[in-house]
Amino acid sequence: MTELLRIDSLEKYFPVAATGRTRAKPQWLHAVDDVSISIAQGESVGLVGESGCGKSTLSRLAARLIDPTEGRIWFDGQDIGNIHAHKFMRVPARRAIQMVFQDSVTSLNPRFTARDTIAEPLKLLLGLRDSHALNTRIGELAEQVGLPQELLARYPHQLSGGQKARVNIARALASNPRLLILDEPTAALDVSVQAIILKLLADLRTRLGMSYLFVSHDLNVVRLLCDRVLVMYLGKVVELGPAEDLFRTPRHPYTAELIAAIPRLGGGGPQRAVPSGEPRSPIDPSPDECRFYGRCAQSTERCAQQMPELAAVSEGHRVACWHT
Ligand SMILES: Nc1ncnc2c1ncn2[C@@H]1O[C@H](COP(=O)(O)OP(=O)(O)OP(=O)(O)O)[C@@H](O)[C@H]1O
Ligand SMILES: [Mg+2]
Repeated sequence: MTELLRIDSLEKYFPVAATGRTRAKPQWLHAVDDVSISIAQGESVGLVGESGCGKSTLSRLAARLIDPTEGRIWFDGQDIGNIHAHKFMRVPARRAIQMVFQDSVTSLNPRFTARDTIAEPLKLLLGLRDSHALNTRIGELAEQVGLPQELLARYPHQLSGGQKARVNIARALASNPRLLILDEPTAALDVSVQAIILKLLADLRTRLGMSYLFVSHDLNVVRLLCDRVLVMYLGKVVELGPAEDLFRTPRHPYTAELIAAIPRLGGGGPQRAVPSGEPRSPIDPSPDECRFYGRCAQSTERCAQQMPELAAVSEGHRVACWHT
């Protein structure tokens, strides 16, 4: 398969404001810590892990909305990791990578109609000016996402959550992206609407041949929608592999706990799957200690002395754990 996105040893550290002594050593929050991944053309990759593990930060780095601290990013063979985020707007790759945001329902501009929202990337990224051409393309996009044409004149407060999600997806599709980064696109929606929007996303991917980086808390959704899954824990990828393989035989204790916590059919709606206990602090974590140490039932002394690296357990399936 042809590689579309490649991320190599990527790091994003945020400075933490020192409290108390002014001369205190600066501290860093390791939001994304030495992450390497790749996404092939047409492939759908799921990104899971509990709140604060770095999913949105990794998504924003991949979309080049923020600059990495270290590491490299290639898109379709072009090195895009060293282009400053504020200059990336003018790079052709910008059109090919689009993002649907986590808070997409509230991220719509209240002063923009649905039409204005969809028109914006057409004007800014594709330089479309002619009003006839704009209207034709907006109509096409609305149809693609199942948004009735008569709703195009409405403002966000006049739209339902599901309709707002469709506007956001249409906006992201406007520039014909090859990679769509979806950061919990249905988190704010009613369960019944979620299912409809997820079906729409699955159909669009097949129809338009896009690749997805799909962030979700809902492992059932990831299993259904993704070819491959990445599991993050405190800034690190701890397991990655083909979806079926990973769900059938999770090899990292953290993944196993996440999967064991999936609500089963008839057992209520989706919920946040989180193992017991608190994660450690992401601020200046020890480089010699497994991030899951202290919360892991299987941990031994070695886990406190040496950080496990990702190692292959089967074809395409890799795990960072001393006890697999
Ligand atoms: N701009 C920022 N400045 C400082 N810290 C940040 C910033 N953005 C994110 N962080 C921190 O980085 C870590 C990862 O945050 P991120 O938003 O990527 O998590 P997430 O996995 O998307 O969580 P959630 O599931 O809740 O959306 C968190 O500890 C967060 O507080
Ligand atoms: Mg997030």
